[in-house]
Order: sequence, then C-alpha cells, then structure tokens
Amino acid sequence: GNITFTMIKPDAVEAGNIGNILQMIQAGGFRIKAMKYTKLSPEKAGEFYAVHSERPFYGELVEFMSRGPIVAAVLEKDNAVEDFRTLIGATNPAEAAEGTVRKAYATSIGENAVHGSDSDENALIEANFHFAGTEMF
Ligand code: GTP
Ligand code: MG
Repeated sequence: GNITFTMIKPDAVEAGNIGNILQMIQAGGFRIKAMKYTKLSPEKAGEFYAVHSERPFYGELVEFMSRGPIVAAVLEKDNAVEDFRTLIGATNPAEAAEGTVRKAYATSIGENAVHGSDSDENALIEANFHFAGTEMF
C-alpha cells in the first residue's frame, strides 16, 4: 500500500513541535495527501482507539487524545505504513531509535507525539474516519 494515516498528538502540539515533525515527515519522503488541525471529542478518540478498549491504559489514552488539538494527515509513499513506523520509532520513547520522531519528541509511552497506522487496511479505515474523499489530493 502507498498510504498511511498519522496524527501529531496533543502533547507534541502543546510543546510547539508541529513544524519540526512535519519537517521530519517531508524529509522522510512522505507526500501530504490530506491534513487538518482539529480536536477529537472523547467519543471520537474512544472510537478511533476502540481496538484498545480492553487495555488498562484505554481511559488514559482517550483522555490524552482528546485533551487538546491534533494534526491529522494522510501521507503517501511507497511502503508507507512500514516506512512511517520506522520514521516514528518504537511506541516507548525509551526504546525508540536515534533519529526517530518519538526519540526526538515523545516524553512517555502514553504521550508519544505521533500516531502511525499499523496496516494497509487500517490506514484506509483511519484516513476515511478523518477525511472525505474530496479532501484527499
Ligand atoms: P499508535 O501509532 O498511536 O497506534 O501507537 P503504536 O501503534 O506504537 O502503539 P499501540 O497501538 O500499541 O498503542 C496505541 C497508543 O496507546 C500508544 O501510541 C500510546 O499513546 C498508548 N499506549 C500504549 N501503551 C501504553 C501504556 O502502557 N500506557 C499508556 N498510558 N499509554 C499507552
Ligand atoms: Mg497502534
């Protein structure tokens, strides 16, 4: 697949890192197909991360993802899902490789600066969750 979906999470927006992260994304060869500055309601955040609803951190995750604005974007590149997860690094910044977005900007396993889709199937679902077809170019 050649698309993935990302969010710059509330912690990274609060810290003033939107520009730095978009710079890393574009330097990594990803083309922006769609992008918006928005805020998730707790209901929307819960729906987006429904796959984690049985996990002990679900409540904390929903509260975090809805506490402030995010940047949502659809990105295009060959091998987008895998290459984007390489660019952002491990979920836990303590385990993230040097040069990755999370190494640079994440502060904890929960507040980890960015989201990246985990499969081609989920990339399409997530892109369509946030954007109409007419908003993707
Ligand atoms: P996403 O790209 O956001 O989906 O992250 P991921 O695929 O690297 O991790 P995963 O899908 O397993 O978890 C989703 C999100 O839940 C993570 O990015 C974190 O924000 C949060 N999360 C995961 N594990 C923990 C945890 O142990 N504690 C807390 N507080 N949050 C967690
Ligand atoms: Mg995930």
